[in-house]
Amino acid sequence: MNIIEVANYEEMSKASADFILKKIKGSEKVTLGLATGGTPLGTYQELVKDYKKNETSYSHVHTYNLDEYVGLTPDDPESYHAYMCEHLFHPVNMPLEQTNIPNGAAPELLQECLRYDMLIESIGGVDLQLLGIGENGHIGFNEPGTLFSTSTHVVDLTLSTLEANAKYFKDPSKQPTQAITMGIATILKSKEILLLASGERKQEALFHLLRGEVTESVPASALNMHDSVTVIADSQALKLV
Ligand code: GLP
Repeated sequence: MNIIEVANYEEMSKASADFILKKIKGSEKVTLGLATGGTPLGTYQELVKDYKKNETSYSHVHTYNLDEYVGLTPDDPESYHAYMCEHLFHPVNMPLEQTNIPNGAAPELLQECLRYDMLIESIGGVDLQLLGIGENGHIGFNEPGTLFSTSTHVVDLTLSTLEANAKYFKDPSKQPTQAITMGIATILKSKEILLLASGERKQEALFHLLRGEVTESVPASALNMHDSVTVIADSQALKLV
């Protein structure tokens, strides 16, 4: 695993945007797995800055998001669809037909999981998967205890995840308790993985990822089974390592 230590969130965001831009600019066609949450926001802001300055084309980029809340329609302002449109897709003029996010409002959720998994299977895994990490070591919404062999599935969110993400919901009673997420096996199909972490609250999760054993009780530890993972993290997050 390649570990890049940076000073703070801003430096992490710049380094990660540079990493992604190299992929975008260096290939004729590229598939990106994208993440949401607070961690990649700065990265997306850097990509937008670059777009405004250099008019970088996204016409050859296809994207596949990790997860979506169950019960939120794509136009719900608190959905990950809305997050992606606001923070990346619209500002960089990404052709929306080239973007993919699980549909959390699909009438048949199991069928939706299968459809999404087959989509990723059909491209042989994404070229580069961007990941954050939950305080309990989750990736995507794969909570502790998830089998490493899981494909895209519906998950009941743990109390720890619900509490950590409550800040993103104006009305706490409307916070979904389930999500559709790419499984660990789906994530491991990616050709390359970039995981970002910043701040004190990620210290334990990062310690387990980098120094702990590979165990299903820490979903991120599965990344040790992949041969092309880069972690960009700030000194605060790496303090225990
Ligand atoms: C959510 C997302 C994850 C993300 C995690 C951490 O659970 N599904 O993809 O990595 O939150 O969020 P944050 O970056 O806000 O700390």
